[in-house]
Amino acid sequence: MIRRLAATAPLLALAALLAGQPASAEPRGSSVEECGACHGIDGIARDTEVPHLAGQNERYLFNQMLAFRSGKRQHKEMRYMARAMSVQEIAALAAYYASLPPR
Ligand code: HEC
Repeated sequence: MIRRLAATAPLLALAALLAGQPASAEPRGSSVEECGACHGIDGIARDTEVPHLAGQNERYLFNQMLAFRSGKRQHKEMRYMARAMSVQEIAALAAYYASLPPR
């Protein structure tokens, strides 16, 4: 858990996500907790079918989520997850996972 101590920035981002974004008019359907079920709260997936997100390029993560949302990148589960997300949530999630230490 030494890593945890060094991870203040991501924890703040996580706190912001969990606290929600009342400024957004779009429906809230996604939180890091939900993503964590597959990708890990720490961005390290436990399943070999699921990609790690920790330390990935922020812009890449952002673009992939938009692509899932629009259906340009096809994947049943990610489409479902991305559908409920606002652009603000996508940006927050991309920043959060990009800030985590990669494995
Ligand atoms: C039910 C499991 C599941 C959940 C829940 C889930 N994902 Fe995913 N995610 C996947 C799988 C599987 C892939 C790989 C998709 C593919 O093969 O194209 C993926 C891919 C991604 C990618 C692209 C990664 C890459 O390397 O290209 C991003 C970004 C992502 N997920 C973000 C999220 C976020 C953010 C959440 C929470 C809102 C989330 N996912 C919730 C299973 C899940």
